[in-house]
Amino acid sequence: MNKKTYYITTPIYYPSAKLHIGNTYTTVASDALARFKRLTGYDVMFLTGTDEHGQKIQRLAETKGVTPIEYVDEIVAGIKDLWKMMNVSYDKFIRTTDNYHIKAVQDIFKKLYDQGDIYKDSYEGWYCTPCESFWTETQLVNGNCPDCGRPVEKAKEEAYFFRMSKYAPKLITYIESHPEFIQPESRKNEMINNFLKPGLQDLCVSRTSFDWGIPVTFDEKHVVYVWIDALANYITALGYGSENDDLYKKYWPADVHLVGKDILRFHTIYWPIMLMALGIPLPKQVFGHGWLLVDGGKMSKSKGNVVDPVVLVNHFGTDPVRYYLLREIPFGSDGLFNNEIFIKKINSDLANDLGNLLSRTCAMVEKYFDGVIPAPKAKEAIDDELINLALATPKKVEKSIDDLKIPEALDSIWELIGRSNKYIDETTPWILAKDEAKKERLGTVLYNLSEALRIVSVCVSSFLPETSENINKQLNVELTTWDSVASFDGTSAGTKVSKGELLFPRIDVEKKIEELNMLKEQQLAENKPKMQPLKEEITIEDFEKIDLRVVKVLACEPVKGAKKLLKLKVDIGGEERQVISGIAKYYEPSDLVGKYVVLVANLKPAKLRGELSQGMILAASTDDDSKLCTVTIPEELPTGSIVR
Ligand code: MSP
Repeated sequence: MNKKTYYITTPIYYPSAKLHIGNTYTTVASDALARFKRLTGYDVMFLTGTDEHGQKIQRLAETKGVTPIEYVDEIVAGIKDLWKMMNVSYDKFIRTTDNYHIKAVQDIFKKLYDQGDIYKDSYEGWYCTPCESFWTETQLVNGNCPDCGRPVEKAKEEAYFFRMSKYAPKLITYIESHPEFIQPESRKNEMINNFLKPGLQDLCVSRTSFDWGIPVTFDEKHVVYVWIDALANYITALGYGSENDDLYKKYWPADVHLVGKDILRFHTIYWPIMLMALGIPLPKQVFGHGWLLVDGGKMSKSKGNVVDPVVLVNHFGTDPVRYYLLREIPFGSDGLFNNEIFIKKINSDLANDLGNLLSRTCAMVEKYFDGVIPAPKAKEAIDDELINLALATPKKVEKSIDDLKIPEALDSIWELIGRSNKYIDETTPWILAKDEAKKERLGTVLYNLSEALRIVSVCVSSFLPETSENINKQLNVELTTWDSVASFDGTSAGTKVSKGELLFPRIDVEKKIEELNMLKEQQLAENKPKMQPLKEEITIEDFEKIDLRVVKVLACEPVKGAKKLLKLKVDIGGEERQVISGIAKYYEPSDLVGKYVVLVANLKPAKLRGELSQGMILAASTDDDSKLCTVTIPEELPTGSIVR
């Protein structure tokens, strides 16, 4: 009989920087779901990958002096290492730079164009010249470029558009008749009321201002812009549109796309419309999870509060990090990552509850039965509560996972762990051990504990795979299938246990936090930009040879045929001068007019591109030249004033 299939995807990540604990969250949650479905008998396809095109990547590569593909190759290798470290069991890793993906996206674009869903027009937006980027009205910050903060201007660029509006009514009907399609429920209402009902604008799907993207085959100066390229990965990864589309036939439509709430709109509006236009069935569900916040709100490089999963795993191991993400973050809403809560949880839930249960059980089997699990020959009524809960737990876990309630699944497992610890207190094996007549009863208690732990181990294996293996090793568990936890007899009497190391050693909270804080400071210090070495020392007399003057910019225009140069007319104490400056990438001519800047006034005149330059405007720039600022005089000093 063919197994039921389960296709789950994560968003594909931008390789623009190292991934942080927030990105790790989506993938670990998907991994837990994928593992659980495999355990419960499904034929699973779990897809993840990287979204590698776009202007940002092109720029980052430029600043590093490498090609975009060299740049992304290195980061993608790091992302794959991270998934290995987090024990992420993906079945396929797609890169949008893979040839099969490029070819399929080009075909999709052409098909949509041929059938009239994509048309050519012009894109009008707010353009930032130094950043060479278009922004929408809502993206601007105080009317300026959100990246560099400089003024923007209205500009037009030829572009292709997708007729989203044509499909909006059909999509609204679909969403309303498929309540499970967008989850959680609250996010569905947001999509309908905030985006679909007010009217959808057509989506710009190509760009000409950069070339690190998939070329449009029938109009080579355009590259496919972001979302068609990125979203299509969910089908191209399965071979859609290729000669071998067996996987596509087998797994599509996806059972669930797991995404962060920030990209839910793209997955529940643009993506379904693309699929409708292509005549492809829609995914069964898109689940928008919340954000992982840290003390101080959102993680950001500039705040210096980015939590690095690699550091956490190096200090605490993989499963504690997985545990915290899966149990502590309410699935669907925002959650907090905090070192102190994290470490306290490791101590209470992992070391105390689970770790102690295993070490006590193994230690007692070793002490009282030479390490051999005895047969349960002397049952008592008090056992029923534990046994009934152990039998109910797998069902509760399965139900929670079916409803995508991962923390609830772990709550149920920890309820069984708690019940087992209570069972030790109730049955007091150390007292039973004092009475030879109670040996059989003692054996039954230890059998029940071993069997409850076996059930815990099977249930927890999708969430904490290493821990489950470790429990199995110590208890010498043979039966680990899902079927085997439907009855309370999977442990064979006579099995030899081998007590190993503690599952989770207790952590000194204060000491560890201090250690982590020190590490953070060290990292911040290492990441601080390093200053360029100073030049050879000069004397005051040397300096006085340079004649620096305040000048006012009277006029400014580009130098024809020289992209980098601006021609400035400046006033220096009532006299006019012409200066050529290589700052066109950073300033619009109109930005400079009226400004008071500093001129190296006694520099030997030179000709640049045939234009006379009488002096040099002072400016400060970053080492990689990504940012530049002229030195300006904030108050209106008389022009010609000496700067010393
Ligand atoms: N490349 C797009 C996705 C294209 S999918 C066809 C993208 N990439 S991303 O790298 O910026 O983000 C990947 C995922 O990480 C998104 O789901 C995003 O919501 C998630 N997260 C980023 N920061 C996060 C937190 N702080 N917390 C939880 N998830 C977060 O978007």
